[in-house]
Amino acid sequence: MSETTQTSTDNQQSTASNPDTRTDEPETTAGETEEQVREEWREYEFAGDAKLSVEDLDVYYGNDHALKGVSMDIPENSVTALIGPSGCGKSTFLRCLNRMNDRVKSARIDGSVELDGQEIYQEGVNLVELRKRVGMVFQSPNPFPKSIAENISYGPRKHGDIETGLLARLLGRSNEDERDELVERCLRDAALWDEVSDRLDDNALGLSGGQQQRLCIARCLSVDPEVILMDEPASALDPIATAKIEDLIDDLSEHYTVVIVTHNMQQAARISDQTAVFLTGGELVEYDDTEKIFEQPESQRVEEYISGKFG
Ligand SMILES: Nc1ncnc2c1ncn2[C@@H]1O[C@H](COP(=O)(O)OP(=O)(O)OP(=O)(O)O)[C@@H](O)[C@H]1O
Ligand SMILES: [Mg+2]
Repeated sequence: MSETTQTSTDNQQSTASNPDTRTDEPETTAGETEEQVREEWREYEFAGDAKLSVEDLDVYYGNDHALKGVSMDIPENSVTALIGPSGCGKSTFLRCLNRMNDRVKSARIDGSVELDGQEIYQEGVNLVELRKRVGMVFQSPNPFPKSIAENISYGPRKHGDIETGLLARLLGRSNEDERDELVERCLRDAALWDEVSDRLDDNALGLSGGQQQRLCIARCLSVDPEVILMDEPASALDPIATAKIEDLIDDLSEHYTVVIVTHNMQQAARISDQTAVFLTGGELVEYDDTEKIFEQPESQRVEEYISGKFG
């Protein structure tokens, strides 16, 4: 047998199995990738101002490094989707944006998050005020076990935004009137008013899941936030309720900066202006206009994730 023949047979057999003869092409199936994240895949340029600016964010839970050096600017009055496989750090990232991770004892956070150019991780930041400006809607609707109207009026009353008592009465406006106006405005903004206007004093827990979620959005709006964080807000809902939430998110983005985690790619493609893709290991791999991410991503791993080959 000639040496040439021997070599060519070896090559045929070994491309898949022998690591020494692997070509420079990165393996891109889950867990085997060699693909390096490139700076330019994450440098998303947009017109207008950044509402939130995240720089070199690392999050550890004990020894687990859940988010690795994430930097991204989030434009104001738009919808930013965060997508990626389970456990890649989407919720962790979202919770960093209003310091909800402060409540997790084992969490350690390094890096910077600025809201309108002001560092939120500096000493002396008022967390109640921060979470009023950066509100959150969770995966499972969690209304208070109170009436529909009280779910809305509770937050502003706690923050002292509804004038109470003598002063309001002297000014000719009872706090009842003010409360009613607020309840109606928030329920209308959350596209729920028509369904509940005749039962505002009923317990909120009697609403359907989709209605409860819109009530939670209305409750979030009641304290006049600037940013709304949503962690899979429609994942527990049927297609009709989901469509209502999606329409609502679209409307909200005219006045608010919305950041939404979703597992539903079609949903991300439908509702967001820009999409950030996190992959296993807590890395932000690519961030760009939603259309670009879904039609022509730079990263092969992102392409495979989006086309359903892994994740
Ligand atoms: N409170 C916590 N304590 C310890 N580890 C945590 C905590 N929260 C999250 N983690 C870990 O951090 C990593 C990222 O979790 P995270 O919940 O942010 O992922 P995710 O992308 O939101 O996933 P999913 O899509 O399943 O919601 C995971 O490995 C998870 O186990
Ligand atoms: Mg999550």
